[in-house]
Amino acid sequence: MNAQEIRSAYIKFFEGRGHSAIPRALLVPQNDPTTLFTGSGMQPLISYLLGEEHPSGQRLVDSQTCLRAQDIEEVGDNRHTTFFEMLGNWSLGSYFKSEQLPWFFEFLTDVVGLDPVKLYVTCFIGDQSYDIAKDVDSANIWEELFRSKGIEAGQVEIGSEENGYRVGMQEGRIFYYDASKNWWCRAGKINLMPEGEPGGPDSEVFYRFYERDHDENEKLKYGDFCHPNCDCGQFLEIGNSVFMEYLKTDTGFSKLPKQNVDFGGGLERIAAAALNEQDVFKVSILWPIVEKLEDLSGKNYASHTESMRVIADHLRAATVLAVDGIVPSNKEQGYVMRRLMRRAIRFAFELGVEQNLCAELVPIITSLYQDSFPEINDSKDRVIDILIKEEKVFRQTLRKGLGVFNSITASGKNITGQDIFKLYDTYGFPLELSKEEAYKNGVEIDANSDAEFDRLMEEQRDRSRTATKGEFKGGLGGQTMQHKKYHTATHLMYQALRQTLGDHVIQHGSNINEERLRFDFSHPEKMTSEQIKHVEDIVNEQIDKDLKVTWEEHPTNEAINDLHALGAFGDRYGAVVKVYRMQAENEEQPFSFEICGGPHVDHTSQLSEDGKRFKIIKEESSSAGIRRIKAVLQ
Ligand code: ALA
Repeated sequence: MNAQEIRSAYIKFFEGRGHSAIPRALLVPQNDPTTLFTGSGMQPLISYLLGEEHPSGQRLVDSQTCLRAQDIEEVGDNRHTTFFEMLGNWSLGSYFKSEQLPWFFEFLTDVVGLDPVKLYVTCFIGDQSYDIAKDVDSANIWEELFRSKGIEAGQVEIGSEENGYRVGMQEGRIFYYDASKNWWCRAGKINLMPEGEPGGPDSEVFYRFYERDHDENEKLKYGDFCHPNCDCGQFLEIGNSVFMEYLKTDTGFSKLPKQNVDFGGGLERIAAAALNEQDVFKVSILWPIVEKLEDLSGKNYASHTESMRVIADHLRAATVLAVDGIVPSNKEQGYVMRRLMRRAIRFAFELGVEQNLCAELVPIITSLYQDSFPEINDSKDRVIDILIKEEKVFRQTLRKGLGVFNSITASGKNITGQDIFKLYDTYGFPLELSKEEAYKNGVEIDANSDAEFDRLMEEQRDRSRTATKGEFKGGLGGQTMQHKKYHTATHLMYQALRQTLGDHVIQHGSNINEERLRFDFSHPEKMTSEQIKHVEDIVNEQIDKDLKVTWEEHPTNEAINDLHALGAFGDRYGAVVKVYRMQAENEEQPFSFEICGGPHVDHTSQLSEDGKRFKIIKEESSSAGIRRIKAVLQ
């Protein structure tokens, strides 16, 4: 099976087991200011894992497009990509370990056709300090599953990754690891979980490509004692079943209202295992991009592996970012997109592809997704346009860098590591290009320039790592009472804006944090102070009326066309949507009726607790024809 076939077989397999297929969420999270990108399948579903009811039911399946910008520098080896798809199935309190593990095993072995002998699994060893027991249940289920394929699978306790290098695999197949490996939460580590964050023990499946022989082992730092969580390349993690039943409290953990399953499996990795091929770039949603690059450059993958991997990954990521509404810029998501594109163009430059990179590659990329994500292929023209423009600008930047290079060296001085770094960092001028120019022009390069450049790069990496971490600080993804209040206030304001300005007002974006709400909407001109006051008055009036906040489900068509529920520009919905109603007890019609996943307060009077009032603190232009409001409850 190729990657496309695996994706559709997976959805079908879980549909056959009572799951509703849900559409992918955008790469840019909606209403979650704690993170720049959707980095896992569970992220858009967090409020449902915490207990909200999902309009499509308790069993869900999807393939979620994900982006992990923190992995940019890792791309180039055989398995890291910034963009990937995570196959996901969820039980929102419907089934648990004894369904999840057999289903995934069946999918891998009987549907995809992986050899069960090549599968190794891990389970949670337990944590006494939090009073969480060893996951013997999962291990026993695995033992039975392997036995059903004629394999006797031994259970081995490993504990920490480090201990794994001391004790080795001991001919086991089911391994217990500690929380650093077999506990899943968004914060990454059990002891970093903020209060209110869900998590749980997990069970990972690894595919073993080959067994290293003794001679090869000798060369590696850990000798013979390898184990599934070793990074040597023998093993590749292809799926993770998280048994999400815990909630972090101030003192430890409590149980969530329901036992959930959050399963995530990397599509590209499962497809690589299906090919028995360690290199994920060989799978059918990446390889055609590489082939086109070989064509364009006249060079082959075997001798230009790293460059071609970087270009294929980065342009694929930039393409889907553009599909999802991002344009290259100097901040937030736009900045990451720009970095991805510039790295790709630089590597292409080194391959000798000096023009039309995007024009040639983007149509290949979009065509790879036409079956499962028609919107990717449908927005092809717009996306190509955006990427071509950025390529043009960057090529000019490269030329500018050349000018700066010449002015640095005009005085006859040596070129230093700092110069090279500045050219690289500020002008996007490739390191190799600086060196080449220097040689060409007979300019000397400082002896310690490489070390100096590396040091500055490392510093910059630390800065961006810190920045990425900071994005997660909030941690709750919009679940606190303050978030709920601003969420509800946003619905009231949306309706008030339409009453004040007219029905041309359509939501173009919303972002909420603990301090304020932010809302983008279509409107051709600046709002007057009377209009602003009018909107504030309407919202405060509705808060005082203490509207009841409830939600109901409707088929999407009915909700939009018959019931005229409000939505947001560009949002894609599944067959059924959740619609929030805000209505006074004694009134016939709701004040607000809007499609939304929640969460909200139960009564609008909760917004005025402690005498707070709704106030618009800023109204400004966001882009052509789009206004942006920031508002607070104070
Ligand atoms: N949420 C789990 C992960 O991302 C499945 O690995």
